[in-house]
Amino acid sequence: MHIGVPKEIKRMETRVACTPSGVRHLVNGGHRVVVERGAGEKSGFADDKYRRAGAVMAEHAEEVWQCDMVVKVKEPLEEEYVFFRKGLILFTYLHLAGNPVLAEALLASGVTGLAYETVEDAGRLPLLAPMSEIAGKMSVLMGGCFLANQHGGSGVLLGGVPGVLPARVSILGGGSAGTQAARAAAAFGADVTVLELDHERMRYLESALPSQVHTLYSTEQHLDEQLASVDLLIGAVLVPGAAATRLVTRDMLAAVKKGSVFVDISIDQGGCFETSKPTTHDDPVYVAEGIIHYCVSNMPAAYPRTSTEALSGATLSYIRRIADLGFESAMVMMPGLAEGLNIWNGALTHKALAGSLGLEFSGNPFL
Ligand SMILES: NC(=O)c1ccc[n+]([C@@H]2O[C@H](COP(=O)([O-])OP(=O)(O)OC[C@H]3O[C@@H](n4cnc5c(N)ncnc54)[C@H](O)[C@@H]3O)[C@@H](O)[C@H]2O)c1
Repeated sequence: MHIGVPKEIKRMETRVACTPSGVRHLVNGGHRVVVERGAGEKSGFADDKYRRAGAVMAEHAEEVWQCDMVVKVKEPLEEEYVFFRKGLILFTYLHLAGNPVLAEALLASGVTGLAYETVEDAGRLPLLAPMSEIAGKMSVLMGGCFLANQHGGSGVLLGGVPGVLPARVSILGGGSAGTQAARAAAAFGADVTVLELDHERMRYLESALPSQVHTLYSTEQHLDEQLASVDLLIGAVLVPGAAATRLVTRDMLAAVKKGSVFVDISIDQGGCFETSKPTTHDDPVYVAEGIIHYCVSNMPAAYPRTSTEALSGATLSYIRRIADLGFESAMVMMPGLAEGLNIWNGALTHKALAGSLGLEFSGNPFL
């Protein structure tokens, strides 16, 4: 199979979908890998490393998009829609629930849209997890930083000091991102509460995390109580494929201390605070109702050397299986991978996604 790796063009995006060692693995399997020049530069992979791994280097994005399958990091931007064509396999983060324009463009063009974030393995999301783990750890770094007075924050230090209580950190959702956020916040010495719906998950969190991490059923009442004392609120909920549940309304912010920080990791699925709107790494925060909001939708791009290795490590075996078996056989043989199918032959094939977009669900032909 011919596999294309374009350079990411989203603002401040620094990751690349495949490392040179990933390219070598695919080339050794008899596949042709076309990498756009400069694609790996910000992740520490110069063109020469790709060349030595057996990649064909392309001068222009167009050559890359002519491949049978294009693997990316972020969703295509409008200037990339010209490359869409029937039969093209696009394997990347799509996050279509928050992006109806892209969903329409994919449906109209006949592109096969396979989304990393809805691929499943034993009930977990193996291709979302590595980026969520990075975003979870980062949410505490960023939150702690913007709590500083010079950034407009309330001036509370996450871990406190002897004789002074630590900051109160509340985390909505205890999945991959929420767990790492809780671990990082606890490591700083903060007082941490994770609000979850899944009882088994809470049981796991209680056993796996330090004792200053508490779990709490995610109800409106409990959330109201948390908001009254929170210093740093981290949104990390997910229902795979669907738009993020709006858990915190603008009205609820009246109870929150001014200068507190909200980090909405779930912003890529539309965000779980009513006051959230996407921001970028070069202008990551804004203030709404006296609360600092950090809503960067590609947080892991801040640490591309770690993120690219983590992403490529997770996706490579799936890319290789699709390339070796052919798309349809891979879908039939790997039901977890078939869960990643969002768009096929001009139809929506993911139920929760279709529900969020208010469009017809046509069923997934491979499940
Ligand atoms: N902004 C970024 O750069 C970035 C990077 C990576 C991931 N993300 C996003 O982070 C979010 C979380 O991803 P994840 O991998 O941790 O997902 P996950 O599926 O591992 O965990 C989500 C958790 O949320 C819980 N949940 C669902 N509804 C809830 C509710 N109403 N109250 C409390 N808990 C609830 C689920 O039970 C689950 O445990 C996703 O939207 C993902 O796309 C964003």
